[in-house]
Amino acid sequence: MSGLNPHFKAALQSALERYETPFYAYDLASVQARVGALRAAFPKAEVFFAMKANPRLGILRRLLGWGVFLEAVSLGEVRRAYAAGFKRTEVLLNGPIKTPAALAELKELGVPLLGLDSLADAERVARHLPGSHVLLRVNPDLPVVTHDHLATGRGESKFGILPQDVGRALEIARAGGLDVLGLHVHLGSALEHPEDFRAGYAVMERLYQEHGPFEVLNLGGGFGLGLDLAALAPEALGLAERLGVELWLEPGRYLVAEAGVLVTRTWGTKHTRRNFLLVDAGMSHLLRPMLYGAEHPVEPLYAGGAPQTFDLAGPACESGDILARGLTLPTPQEGDALAILQAGAYGSSMSSNYLDTPRPLELLWTGEEWEVLRQRQSWESLLLEEQAEG
Ligand code: LLP
Repeated sequence: MSGLNPHFKAALQSALERYETPFYAYDLASVQARVGALRAAFPKAEVFFAMKANPRLGILRRLLGWGVFLEAVSLGEVRRAYAAGFKRTEVLLNGPIKTPAALAELKELGVPLLGLDSLADAERVARHLPGSHVLLRVNPDLPVVTHDHLATGRGESKFGILPQDVGRALEIARAGGLDVLGLHVHLGSALEHPEDFRAGYAVMERLYQEHGPFEVLNLGGGFGLGLDLAALAPEALGLAERLGVELWLEPGRYLVAEAGVLVTRTWGTKHTRRNFLLVDAGMSHLLRPMLYGAEHPVEPLYAGGAPQTFDLAGPACESGDILARGLTLPTPQEGDALAILQAGAYGSSMSSNYLDTPRPLELLWTGEEWEVLRQRQSWESLLLEEQAEG
């Protein structure tokens, strides 16, 4: 699982001869392999890729070609999904708040499938978009194990409708003329324990017995990179079979995380009370280490000298701008490059313009050549929205 595939590593060396760092680079074969593995584990499921994990059009279009649909959580993502060529029946819009303005815009664009997140959401969607096809998102109120920011299925989270309120939400939706396809649960992200999923499935089974029948059961995403899908899939498939429903899934990270790396060059070492390696990528490019304490493996793209232990320090003026801690690496020379692994999900999509940092170049390795998915953002575009009208 860990470590760069040698072909992709060789391709990265060729990219370093042509492109300035930092850049994101993705291996298309890895995304395709993950789609294949997911389909093999869940043969009958409809897959909606959570595009927040990686919204590059060049990736979305490939997924469309492989029959994968999209899960979106904002108007911008729906617009992007349509721009990539997805039809409105191939896009599912979730999210806790859909304003009247957003609903009016969806009416213009074409209304996607809608996930309803609260009684107020159900009532408002019924008022503005009657006749829509919807799912109700359940908050199963379970003690899901993951980072607090990612535990959406806990009773304390802002997401979903508690089991005891599902009946009322169904009444509101149906009375308002919505077509309720079924229920949805997304327990959280980066989940590593099959027991969390089992507990979630049990809640859904109870709710289907109580409120069904429905056509669809959406079991969400959340598959952590270490999760054993084979241990989980038969239970999800068995549940869908027993209930006689179509199974939907919404994986994000699982499909793209390991396909992507952030490539950065080292610009020296520095000693305070710790030993630092100074690199040209930081929190503006990859926020996950700072925001969640996420640990991304790092692989040197150079041979180098004697090993040392380093913290990887980015260029931002924040002491928290550390991409990895306590790494043992061969001592690099100025300009040597490193690959930060597992950066294909929630890397670029969470990057920011903090400190007027342009969003980085993004490249796709097709197996034969490098395709530019997104140019490095221009300096001019950083000023664009502030240009005074004449
Ligand atoms: N479905 C819904 C309703 C979601 O909210 C999410 C992710 C997914 C599916 C996909 O979850 P996945 O399979 O990728 O775990 N920024 C965080 C992750 C936030 C996930 C938010 N929702 C990170 O960098 O780890």
